[in-house]
Amino acid sequence: MYIRDFVQVAKEAAVLGGYILKENFGKIKREDIEYKSKKDFVTYVDKLSEERIKNFILSTFPEHSFLGEEKGVSGKDSSEYQWIVDPLDGTKNYINGFEIFAVSVALEKEGEIIAGAIYIPMLDKLYWAGKEEGAYVNGKLMRVSDRPKDMAIIATGFPFRYEEEIDRYLKAFREAMITFSAVRRPGAAAVDLAMTAEGVFDGFFEMKLSKWDIAAGSLLVEEAGGIFSNFHGKRILDGNVVAGGKNIHKILIDIVQRKLI
Ligand code: IPD
Ligand code: CA
Ligand code: CA
Repeated sequence: MYIRDFVQVAKEAAVLGGYILKENFGKIKREDIEYKSKKDFVTYVDKLSEERIKNFILSTFPEHSFLGEEKGVSGKDSSEYQWIVDPLDGTKNYINGFEIFAVSVALEKEGEIIAGAIYIPMLDKLYWAGKEEGAYVNGKLMRVSDRPKDMAIIATGFPFRYEEEIDRYLKAFREAMITFSAVRRPGAAAVDLAMTAEGVFDGFFEMKLSKWDIAAGSLLVEEAGGIFSNFHGKRILDGNVVAGGKNIHKILIDIVQRKLI
């Protein structure tokens, strides 16, 4: 099996989930919204998307393990291959009818992400990457940007689940506002990373994300020639993310190290 075969399955899985998101968009009623915890919601659409993606992936690769945000691990837990899926990234945007949300599908082999796809259904943008195979959006090769900092737009996300982190976060946010041309909070980490790989955003930082938010995006950024790291500059998925082209990544690391660690 070649990496490009896994990438093909990741793409199909992301689009499959995306159809479900599109089909149900604008149909969420108040009674469809469940609390996972304070400020954290889930709907039947998140669950249905995950179910369909899981069935597709595990029927294609019955020997693999599958980690989905909503249902956790299934398949063969001991496999060296694990699929890591966020079936709807940007649930709050989705519920309220803001078109920025995505499906994120990644494949990890022994600790390395080797294939990934992110699909933004309302923009009909499909992003994908394979380890050492490059990163693409709708078939076009992507490169991270090389804009200077005073022209750069940085994406970020707020630590809304962690009130104790807000003051610290705001210090980094303030510094980013001063340093760069603009800061954006689109509301879906997978979109932030895909668009950083694409060079739409020049960089991205956020704290305390989950593996399914960032697994596919980390590969997209690296394969587009960028740097993806935690706040210590290490190439690991611990949920604290700094991503971007070489220069912007360096500036962002400096900001998070002074303000967020
Ligand atoms: C969320 C989004 C958001 C980020 C949150 C995530 P969800 O994912 O990626 O941008 O700030 O931390 O949980 O819950 O919509 O899948
Ligand atoms: Ca998510
Ligand atoms: Ca989600």
